[in-house]
Amino acid sequence: MSNVTVINHPLIAHKLTLMRREETSTAKFRSLLKEISLLLAYEVTRDLPLKLEEIKTPLGVMEAPVLAPEKKMVVISIMRAGQGILDGMLELIPSARVGHIGLYRDPRTLIPIEYYLKVPHDVEERDMFIVDPMLATGNTAVAAISRLKELNPTSIKFVCLLAAPEGLEHVQEEHPDIPIYTTAIDECLDEHGYILPGLGDAGDRLFGTK
Ligand code: URA
Repeated sequence: MSNVTVINHPLIAHKLTLMRREETSTAKFRSLLKEISLLLAYEVTRDLPLKLEEIKTPLGVMEAPVLAPEKKMVVISIMRAGQGILDGMLELIPSARVGHIGLYRDPRTLIPIEYYLKVPHDVEERDMFIVDPMLATGNTAVAAISRLKELNPTSIKFVCLLAAPEGLEHVQEEHPDIPIYTTAIDECLDEHGYILPGLGDAGDRLFGTK
């Protein structure tokens, strides 16, 4: 899968295992997702351009790297579980702007319907990170990417915690130009579209709604 990056790191692997455990509390689940998201943010911003700026340290003058100022970012959270990744990413890139997209699946047609969209007015000048912890069937991701592409951001990356092979295939088929970042690829989906072995419903575990 050419456009998929699986972020391998012992800390991430360990924290993900803790998140998967059935007995992990809501508070712990939330803080683990935030910690992993910091590491995800580190990885997905690896190619940000730098420029040199003259600075003075207490001992001398040097040309030091700073982020190129024209590189503006926006993190788009797919409601509602995207919030869990958003919080961690913002800690590492506090200057990023935030957008939200909400989609639900019509129970009759199974087509994702948009019920909420709010993005910064200058989204066309920003590199976009679309975040959602679980890439399962890929239906929501495909619909969100299609809609957000219409807004013409500078670039788009899709960032998740856990992916199913089916979802990765679906997104890559519909949007081969979009890089996908995940920390693990699980076995398959169950008959309800949940990732196996997965970690259950990320939104419920994050917000304690079950
Ligand atoms: N959404 C979730 O929260 N969990 C899954 O396993 C699949 C989709």
